[in-house]
Amino acid sequence: MNILIIGATSGIGHCLWKYYVAKDHNVIVTGRRKELLENMAKNFPEHTHAILCDISHTKLLDNALASIIHKYGQIDLAIVCAGIGELNPNLDVETELSTLSVNVMGWANAVASIYRVFERQKSGHLVTVTSVGGLQPTPVAPSYSASKAFQINYTKSLQSKAKGTDIIITEIRPGLVDTRMAKGEGLFWVMPLDKVCRKIIKAIDKKQKRLIVTRRWRIINFILKHFM
Ligand SMILES: NC(=O)c1ccc[n+]([C@@H]2O[C@H](COP(=O)([O-])OP(=O)(O)OC[C@H]3O[C@@H](n4cnc5c(N)ncnc54)[C@H](OP(=O)(O)O)[C@@H]3O)[C@@H](O)[C@H]2O)c1
Repeated sequence: MNILIIGATSGIGHCLWKYYVAKDHNVIVTGRRKELLENMAKNFPEHTHAILCDISHTKLLDNALASIIHKYGQIDLAIVCAGIGELNPNLDVETELSTLSVNVMGWANAVASIYRVFERQKSGHLVTVTSVGGLQPTPVAPSYSASKAFQINYTKSLQSKAKGTDIIITEIRPGLVDTRMAKGEGLFWVMPLDKVCRKIIKAIDKKQKRLIVTRRWRIINFILKHFM
């Protein structure tokens, strides 16, 4: 398979890259940290194609997609992991806007552009990584939780749009996962990265519509959805 992972230099995307590259798939990885991308390409040169790309610069993402199609012909699976999440209790405006420029503007451009590629191909599997935090307004990170609510609804819209086609859309909605993203004090139920990724891979294989990971976060998700 030709697999694109947007945001693969660390955390969930990196873990998924390690899995898919070991299975001899062609994995195209993106991120902003050049050195990490270079190391990934050096470690698995036959199956890793690294592209330096900040998704908030929409033109860069569009160029990256064009170059991938030119080289590989098609994308079978695209996983959009890229995201930022800053604690911002003082509502520093620059932080709020930069979160939106990545998690909303850049993310929507990436997801919509991939969807259009899949329409042209008449098939493809798109995976978005949202957050249980999208159901919970968060006073210390309002733009993050709002951006994740946007992603949840956007993914649902694409799932409706894809009905009756061979385009598959999977939403991965994690609770807290042990990556650099999980910030702040008093965090609870922080899930080991390996465990979460194993479940994500299974959900992708099964072409599941949605995975709320892990089981205990499904309970939180249920409470937030029905009682808050
Ligand atoms: N960890 C959690 O508790 C948790 C919970 C729920 C949902 N999530 C979601 O899971 C996804 C992955 O996060 P993670 O936990 O694995 O954290 P992470 O280690 O910080 O990974 C984030 C990835 O996104 C990339 N990225 C960030 N901004 C980007 C940009 N402007 N352009 C391109 N790539 C960008 C980063 O690469 P560069 O820095 O190299 O650009 C990195 O590879 C995020 O969408 C996050 O919201 C995480």
